[in-house]
Amino acid sequence: MKRPVSAVDLFCGAGGLTHGFIIEGIKVQVGIDLDPACKFPYEYNNKSVFLQEDISDITADDLSPYYPDGHVKLLAGCAPCQPFSTYSQGHRNDDDKRWTLLREFARLAKELRPELITMENVPKLRDHEVFLDFVETLKNLAYQVTYSVVDGRYYGIPQHRRRLVLFASQYGEVEIEEPTHEVENFMTVRQTIASLERIAAGESSLNDSLHRASVLTAKNLQRIRASKPGGTWRDWDEELRTNCHTKKSGKTYPSVYGRMSWDDPAPTITTQCFGFGNGRFGHPEQDRAISLREAAMIQTFPENYKFVPPKEPVQMKIVGKLIGNAVPVTLGRVIARSILRHLG
Ligand SMILES: C[S@@+](CC[C@H](N)C(=O)[O-])C[C@H]1O[C@@H](n2cnc3c(N)ncnc32)[C@H](O)[C@@H]1O
Repeated sequence: MKRPVSAVDLFCGAGGLTHGFIIEGIKVQVGIDLDPACKFPYEYNNKSVFLQEDISDITADDLSPYYPDGHVKLLAGCAPCQPFSTYSQGHRNDDDKRWTLLREFARLAKELRPELITMENVPKLRDHEVFLDFVETLKNLAYQVTYSVVDGRYYGIPQHRRRLVLFASQYGEVEIEEPTHEVENFMTVRQTIASLERIAAGESSLNDSLHRASVLTAKNLQRIRASKPGGTWRDWDEELRTNCHTKKSGKTYPSVYGRMSWDDPAPTITTQCFGFGNGRFGHPEQDRAISLREAAMIQTFPENYKFVPPKEPVQMKIVGKLIGNAVPVTLGRVIARSILRHLG
């Protein structure tokens, strides 16, 4: 098929998925997201249009003008995953409005009937009725639906990140591209961030405002000094342990307060990845948590991807959310290539 492919990206965030598509030659005409912080990075890095809207308010009539005549229509999206992630277990609220966003995605597919659809989310989503309904709706619309859980490490992403990837096509089954990496050649933290300038906790690089690391309290500075790469808080002396570590129940959290290992992939980058106490987000050898730039590079954003307009202050929470929520650019590329090969 020689027709160019044009996409609309629902829940586009800072543009991880879109950027991967663009690199592979899929034109993303518009990205839609509720969060105003997405506008600058989305538009600046992708030369695409950003609409700050609630997906629930969007109709097919709003999207149709963005698909040029003769192009293959692709509807892509990654609804917020917090309601389905393992982190939110036990705090699940079935009234959470975000649960219904996948239904909004299905509604738009029904109204718009794009030739192709792709959706990315956390693997846990597979266990929920809302996902089974989504698949059923697409099948009833005569799409061929395929989905699988992929592990980013097998596609050259320097991070342990498992994700559910779904394709729906009017032209048959889309198969996801074969993995490109195996255990022996997983991309590592060293290959990804070792070239970056050395900074201390609380400092920011003069050359890149995103290469900024959170402040550490005196106690946390002692803790990170006592942390071994790839180890846990169990390596610390008793007096450094927090209350939740010393209580019996706290022993179930070995994955907080750790350093990454240079020669392994990083743990899953989350929206809290700039905090040493929020996961195994300590730098392998510097006494600090990873910087926002390091987190973005582990998410496979190019080193020059801009998240904040020049001269504007970098707010760790806001930018951390954009980075942690993103689809790794490399995964976006894998999804795009799988679609192009299917059409080709
Ligand atoms: C998992 S993130 C998407 C990441 C994005 N695909 C990327 O690759 O960078 C989900 C996004 O959904 C947005 N969102 C949440 N509720 C929304 C709604 N009702 N309408 C539009 N966007 C919404 C959030 O602001 C967040 O940016």
